[in-house]
Amino acid sequence: MTARRAEGTGRTGAQGVDTAAPEGGTGAARDPISVEDPGDPRLGDYTGLTDVRLRRVREPAEGLFIAEGEKVIRRALAAGYEMRSMLLTPKWADAMRDVVAGTRAPVYSVGPEAAERVTGYHVHRGALASMRRKPLPDPADLLADARRVAVLEAVNDHTNIGALFRSAAALGMDAVLLSPDCADPLYRRSVKVSMGAVLQVPWTRLESWPGGIDVLREAGYVTAALALDENAVGLGEFAARRHPRTALILGSEGEGLRPSTVAAADVAVRIPMSAGVDSLNVAAAAAVAFYATGPAAV
Ligand SMILES: C[S@@+](CC[C@H](N)C(=O)[O-])C[C@H]1O[C@@H](n2cnc3c(N)ncnc32)[C@H](O)[C@@H]1O
Repeated sequence: MTARRAEGTGRTGAQGVDTAAPEGGTGAARDPISVEDPGDPRLGDYTGLTDVRLRRVREPAEGLFIAEGEKVIRRALAAGYEMRSMLLTPKWADAMRDVVAGTRAPVYSVGPEAAERVTGYHVHRGALASMRRKPLPDPADLLADARRVAVLEAVNDHTNIGALFRSAAALGMDAVLLSPDCADPLYRRSVKVSMGAVLQVPWTRLESWPGGIDVLREAGYVTAALALDENAVGLGEFAARRHPRTALILGSEGEGLRPSTVAAADVAVRIPMSAGVDSLNVAAAAAVAFYATGPAAV
């Protein structure tokens, strides 16, 4: 698979190769290094985690993301992400002993109060890891190996992105493709809400949108715009067609899909609504469509 680029200007070194290991990345770090000063520059990756505006720019630019909690950290490592460093509150040292022993990255032990002062919140899960982003795959490569993909247009809420990836993993979607203006699946909230599914489900960004519809079509996908369009076919009818390759295109939280996107897609598909409710949340609509078009619904 062609490695395309990392999000932002972060490093693009091959996985497992420490292209610029932080302090302690020489194989020496095995025991957590106790740090008491919240202003210690070694904790720089973890500062101001509650400042969404800052972090959503900083993390892609620096080629990092934050994995929070034992399960998500383990999942990130299992998915081949390289650790830059880890911050543990002392209570978590035991549970993470094997992870500490297995990493070349520095591991910092920080008391709960100091951890709160660094990050800006009470670190309930007691373990944070700064992970290095991987280069994003080429969309054509993802599409070549897939059968059912989700395509997101301007979905901007990190919770929705996380919930949608969780459903994509659980309901067997092969990949997720994002328009250039979608929010970051590796932002902390998305990673957490997805329960780490953003680290499992292959995903990438399309370079242009809705121009990317042509990329989907050329790869043999029927492009289905999930929309509240009067002329749309019902989801049940669409699912019964069992197209060998399907791209389910979902729109933003407020406006929904742009009319030009609906017009460019092969078909508009509607989930019938009841009780005067006009639409579903995008992650809920995605879950319904993923299930209906998947093998379990046959
Ligand atoms: C909250 S909805 C957007 C509602 C927006 N007012 C509209 O008219 O599309 C977000 C996305 O979820 C999907 N969606 C929500 N309800 C749907 C339904 N009943 N049928 C098809 N797609 C739906 C669509 O892709 C939509 O763009």
